[in-house]
Amino acid sequence: MARRYRMLIGGEWSGDDRTGIEVINPYDDSLIGIVPEATAEDVEAAIVSARKGFDEISAMPAYKRSEILERASEFIMRDKEEIAGIIAREAGKSWKYALAEAERSAETFKFAAIEARASHGEIVPMDASPVSAGRFGFYLRNPIGIIGAITPFNFPLNLVAHKLAPAIATGNAVVLKPATKTPLTSLKLAELLMEAGLPAGALNVIIGSGATVGNRLVEDERLAMITFTGSPPVGRGIKSRSGLKRVTLELGSNSPTIIEEDGDVDKAVSRCVIGSFANSGQVCISVQRIFVHQSRYEEFIAKFVEATRSLKVGDPFDKTCDIGPMISRKELERAVSWLEEAKKLGAVIAVGGNVVGNCLEPTVLTSVTRDMQVMCSEVFAPIVSVLPYKTFDEALEMADDSIYGLQAGIYTSDINKAFKAVKRLDVGGVIINDVPTFRVDHMPYGGNKESGLGREGVRYAMEEMTNIKMVCINL
Ligand code: SIN
Repeated sequence: MARRYRMLIGGEWSGDDRTGIEVINPYDDSLIGIVPEATAEDVEAAIVSARKGFDEISAMPAYKRSEILERASEFIMRDKEEIAGIIAREAGKSWKYALAEAERSAETFKFAAIEARASHGEIVPMDASPVSAGRFGFYLRNPIGIIGAITPFNFPLNLVAHKLAPAIATGNAVVLKPATKTPLTSLKLAELLMEAGLPAGALNVIIGSGATVGNRLVEDERLAMITFTGSPPVGRGIKSRSGLKRVTLELGSNSPTIIEEDGDVDKAVSRCVIGSFANSGQVCISVQRIFVHQSRYEEFIAKFVEATRSLKVGDPFDKTCDIGPMISRKELERAVSWLEEAKKLGAVIAVGGNVVGNCLEPTVLTSVTRDMQVMCSEVFAPIVSVLPYKTFDEALEMADDSIYGLQAGIYTSDINKAFKAVKRLDVGGVIINDVPTFRVDHMPYGGNKESGLGREGVRYAMEEMTNIKMVCINL
């Protein structure tokens, strides 16, 4: 009998007596658990409860919110093996990356604990204008209210942490709708937050479809903000239906990496293998397009293919596994159809391309063109395309030829080229001498163009989650 889970509303766990959504292990298709499917009434109850939770958490002093976050961080570390197991089971993430995600999330909460104590307004120099000289001005940062957080399957803990931790740090209440494929990690995190002393109602977790839960949250005027991580089409829909709410969107990308003729090819190979294939490429900043200077192309391809071939594909619970399954059969089939299209249009598979169970072998493509789906859309699968280029300008032009703009990587030993890339590329982050997949959780993170709106990274999310209140005193 599969375990029945409950949702969290107003500090109460409920709903294990109803029919619900089946949570399936994407590696072996086994049933892991059943979560209650939220109804319109549950959404309403969660919003009402969040209103009460907001009254309490927004009145709580910063040091107390910080202590809750600090304890949450400790509890995640205490339970990290259990959490990694849940992530590996429901998301199919290989054990080493699942464990790393748990540890990263503990750090995300730690950063939030620090920032909760440090968040402050500013004095505004009123004497800068003759009109206001003689007045004293400052602004405060106030919590925005109830935040609807809609989170994806690919980092079921840390991308939830990136929404909950800054919300708690700033004194906001949250209604969380985790991905229906990976709700169990969120429920575990909610348990830990309650154990850490989060007031009832400050966090509500309800699971359900976009139509029943997502749209209601997006359209409800009692919510002040929606923070969403997921696909660009859903992000667009949220933006168009959210009225005057604040919206932050962390969407997709087809991230480029440039390897210049003076770049370190060996280092680039070892990092590109991780950046392209970790979590089966289901990472928004996964390396998808690699541009290599023609003088280093043959060397790069030979080493990259060899390193890719050595990756172990299979059971996420095998501690030596590099690549687990894709999140669903449907996504696997979609990725395979994109490979088929690329082959038809002339692409060559240098390594990989086969389906093994529910996994797709890490796949390197050459002879690709810009118009193939594997190049111009977000592939979100273990597929990477490698192209040679002649001049650095050409590489920059190709890297920037994208509807997306999240992060880009560049390998070069020339500081001038590095800065030229920083200036030229229309992205949220340029990572020099590493892959675009590099991220630590206190750096600003988010994209330009179709990659999104606003920034995450604890302090930056806290800015998005607060309203400035100006105070002006006529002395
Ligand atoms: C993402 O897929 O957007 C998150 C990547 C990360 O946090 O490493």
